[in-house]
Amino acid sequence: MNALFSDRINDVPRSFIREILKDALAPGTISFAGGLPNRDLFPADEIQAATEKVFRLRGKDIFQYSQSEGLPELREYIAARYRQRGLDVPVSNILITSGSQQGLDLLGKTLVNEGDLLGIEEPGYLGAIQAFALYRPTFVPIPVSEQGMDTDALANVLSGPPVKLIYGVPNFQNPSGVTYPEANRHAVAAQVRATRTLFIEDDPYGDLRFEGKHLTSFYQLMPENTVMLGSFSKVVVPGFRLGWIVAPDALMQKLIIAKQASDLHSSSFLQEVMLQYLRDNDLDVHIQKITSAYGQQKQVMMAAIQQHFPEDVSMTHPEGGMFLWATLPESMTAMALFNEAVKDRVVFVPGDPFYVTPGVIRTLRLNYSCVTPELIRSGIERLGTAIRTLETRG
Ligand SMILES: Cc1ncc(COP(=O)(O)O)c(C=O)c1O
Repeated sequence: MNALFSDRINDVPRSFIREILKDALAPGTISFAGGLPNRDLFPADEIQAATEKVFRLRGKDIFQYSQSEGLPELREYIAARYRQRGLDVPVSNILITSGSQQGLDLLGKTLVNEGDLLGIEEPGYLGAIQAFALYRPTFVPIPVSEQGMDTDALANVLSGPPVKLIYGVPNFQNPSGVTYPEANRHAVAAQVRATRTLFIEDDPYGDLRFEGKHLTSFYQLMPENTVMLGSFSKVVVPGFRLGWIVAPDALMQKLIIAKQASDLHSSSFLQEVMLQYLRDNDLDVHIQKITSAYGQQKQVMMAAIQQHFPEDVSMTHPEGGMFLWATLPESMTAMALFNEAVKDRVVFVPGDPFYVTPGVIRTLRLNYSCVTPELIRSGIERLGTAIRTLETRG
């Protein structure tokens, strides 16, 4: 340990994903390891037009410092979208953040003392583990699967010493792609509400549904103790770093202080451009383009998996989002498969970094949003061969 650095930063591991992918990959490597939206779907022309218009209409004001809470009109736009979905979110309860990732950091700053217990989905979003880890909590994992959050495990956690918050991604979860079923949401909310624990509903993918129908959000079920995180990253562009937090009044006041201390406010220029883009374009039409592309990519991946993977590999069946999650047979770890697959120029993310409980990990994340159908087919074929090679090796 280096005495120069805080204990806080010394305790947070480096990004495992960067570590395993840091060596230059052989040319022609097909990557299912990405976590990025598809760049070909970025509305570049529309954003260019919005930028020019903002310069023309707003002049030098777009370069001035602005409010910590974010542009009122952008917050109003977000509230109006929630209203369309039947959620009543007052504008004063919306804080614009520099990506929803900053929302996680601000929640850590505002809520977490060293040693506090934090309930977190397992497998869970790596960026949330990293953001909260800086505030030195003790993580309490709660398993998630296609059945949603494990309500027995949740009951166990809630009956023990008090947990500060429970963190979950109920729609098309990162990393597993699973969605909590409707009945599970009601069961989870009933338990969480009874103990007045704060539930962090992180929802960057909710709009990216290509099958099935939208489900009830935790905010609808228990507005008084739900914090929602939202983002423009997956539905417009991630590079603007624009997201938001919805929080109850008292917490919002503290979050605004934390936001001021962190960066005063998110880029006012980029908020203006985003707002102009949203005024001049129908976001739902754009989202439709994204979901039809991702839906097709997911179909291609599932079909290729059925053709090329042995039957003892199980898969999740996402109805939206960007990821599939595979579970390998007992005999094989995800890291062993990674080492075999990289030789044949195909990579993915082994499940290991998404767990706070150490153990033998047989799960892996496959991203389909950034890979063309042709490359999905050949990448999955190569991966199937790597799995069979390991199986015969034993
Ligand atoms: C579950 C989840 N939450 C939050 C984020 C952060 O998104 P952003 O900061 O770009 O809004 C991501 C990004 O991949 C994510 O998968």
